[in-house]
Amino acid sequence: MSATRNDRSIAGDATQADDYAATIARLVGEIGDEQGALLPLLHALQGAFGYIDDRMVPLIAAALNISRADVHGVVTFYHDFRRQPAGRHRVQLCRAESCQARGAAAIERLVTDRLGVGIGETSADGRFTLDAVYCLGLCATGPNAMVDGAPVSRIDPATLDRLLGDLVR
Ligand code: FES
Repeated sequence: MSATRNDRSIAGDATQADDYAATIARLVGEIGDEQGALLPLLHALQGAFGYIDDRMVPLIAAALNISRADVHGVVTFYHDFRRQPAGRHRVQLCRAESCQARGAAAIERLVTDRLGVGIGETSADGRFTLDAVYCLGLCATGPNAMVDGAPVSRIDPATLDRLLGDLVR
């Protein structure tokens, strides 16, 4: 008898949970389990998996002997932590003061309209993730963004159309 899709899904979930548990154990071995280990552990897990899966929360809590609420609170408080896999393209808009003074809010509205996602979200087709950053060190040439790791400066609606059009292709 062949395995059903549900059987395979359950098996995949178990494998993923084992993978999370093993990685958390290894990282706690490297980082330690003292007070203050939570943030470096979360960063390391996001580096390893690309996001903090909700299923990691109880494993992290147990490994650091803290409550699930503590872990959840930190994951949801810091914008750095993603709770879903990132899209294939990552657009990061600078929201810091100089870029705001140069029209970043209007650019952000255009981007969210075009991509159909808000800051911190990934499009339903998995193509884009939109994030905020707070200064890229390019303040004189704002409004600025990073697109797939490359800085883009002096963004205006025409630049944006070209940029997003390139990513959609
Ligand atoms: S404020 Fe946007 S790059 Fe510095």
